[in-house]
Amino acid sequence: MHYPLVINTCLSALGMLVTLKVIPQFGEVFMKAGFKGKDLNKAVQKEIPESAGMISGAMFLIIMFLFIPFPFLEYWVSVKPQAHHEFPHADFVEFLGALLSISCMIFLGFVDDALSLKWRHKLWLPTIASLPLLMVYFTTFDLTTIIVPKPFRPFLGLSIDLSLLYYVYMGMLAVFCTNAINILAGINGVETGQSLIIGLSITLFNLLELSGDFSEDHIFSLYFMIPFCAVSFALLYYNWYPSQVFVGDTFCYFAGMTFAVVGILSHFSKTMLLFFIPQILNFLYSCPQLFRLVPCPRHRLPRFDAKTGKLGMSYSRFKTSELNSIGALILKVCSIFHIADVRSGVGEDKQYTECSNLTLINFVLYVLGPTHERTLTIYLLTIQVLGSMAAFFIRYQLAKIFYDV
Ligand code: UD1
Ligand code: MG
Repeated sequence: MHYPLVINTCLSALGMLVTLKVIPQFGEVFMKAGFKGKDLNKAVQKEIPESAGMISGAMFLIIMFLFIPFPFLEYWVSVKPQAHHEFPHADFVEFLGALLSISCMIFLGFVDDALSLKWRHKLWLPTIASLPLLMVYFTTFDLTTIIVPKPFRPFLGLSIDLSLLYYVYMGMLAVFCTNAINILAGINGVETGQSLIIGLSITLFNLLELSGDFSEDHIFSLYFMIPFCAVSFALLYYNWYPSQVFVGDTFCYFAGMTFAVVGILSHFSKTMLLFFIPQILNFLYSCPQLFRLVPCPRHRLPRFDAKTGKLGMSYSRFKTSELNSIGALILKVCSIFHIADVRSGVGEDKQYTECSNLTLINFVLYVLGPTHERTLTIYLLTIQVLGSMAAFFIRYQLAKIFYDV
């Protein structure tokens, strides 16, 4: 038994209990400070505390700060005289650098919740927060060589050194992970639920790899994932339908950055991305709206129907003449292949077009029809679990075709 992992698990369990106790106590404080949001998918749009992810994030940091000495304790209490010289400074720096990037992301997420930043600013936040992480990678590991998949080896050789491009990839990974969770959002429990499933999937992957050649890397990842799952579970308890708190962008950024940190520093970023299959699909589907080829409203969450109590698709409505040729082509393709619900020639003088917002949540509603909010969250989390099962299959079966695993 690896004793620091046992201590980490005990601290996480304690942290989960404290988070469960503290979140309701801070609700009023958050509301008074202006951190509140309307639950838009309800008959009565009540205001509830927003940014409760700050409490989970703070508890995560407390657990990790208390835990810092334990993985290194054997070097200080060792009776061997040379033990001090063997102290793994690089591992220690990685640990602190990872915590610095996550702390920075929690802080910037809270800034976003406080100031409601614009999308172009939001993109910069994870880039900035990932810099300490990249610096740590540079000073400790600095391996930027990738193994070429088997089918391409006759042309490209066994490996390629991506050099600076590898750092760009890692920076973009942090931007993707944070924002991908933040845009698969808008129904009670979905942000925390998806993050918890990704966290549990990574934990399972690390446990499966504990007896492998890279066990140290997977132990490092578990040090972060176990507390993350513990505080996320406590948050999900209050964020589940009907939500008593919203998690805020603070939580989405905190979750995304924690995943990016373990993926990068434990060297399994490709496998980590496999656990993001629903987020990747949602991002690709959202691209026309994210890059403003199709108009994007402030909120793309589904629309509540007071008569049935169910959620239906939400639409973006705009003058047909506002669309440029690429936007028009995208809508035509969406309409022909039934990728989205497009209604042209509506409104006054038939000058308007309506297009269902391009989100995975809306697509599920497009396929299944109006659904109760709680059921819809369960469907989305089921997709997340299926995505993780597909990820394990790809990692342990399909990968054999491409790599020597
Ligand atoms: C992202 C999405 C936006 C979506 C929003 C919902 C993109 C580009 N942006 O924006 O379309 O509407 O998340 O979180 O895809 N809310 C609910 N019920 C919930 C969760 C949130 O009503 O279960 C509402 C509340 O009013 C809450 C607000 O959404 O105050 C939070 O939105 P915010 O996180 O600020 O939106 P963005 O992350 O900017
Ligand atoms: Mg958000």
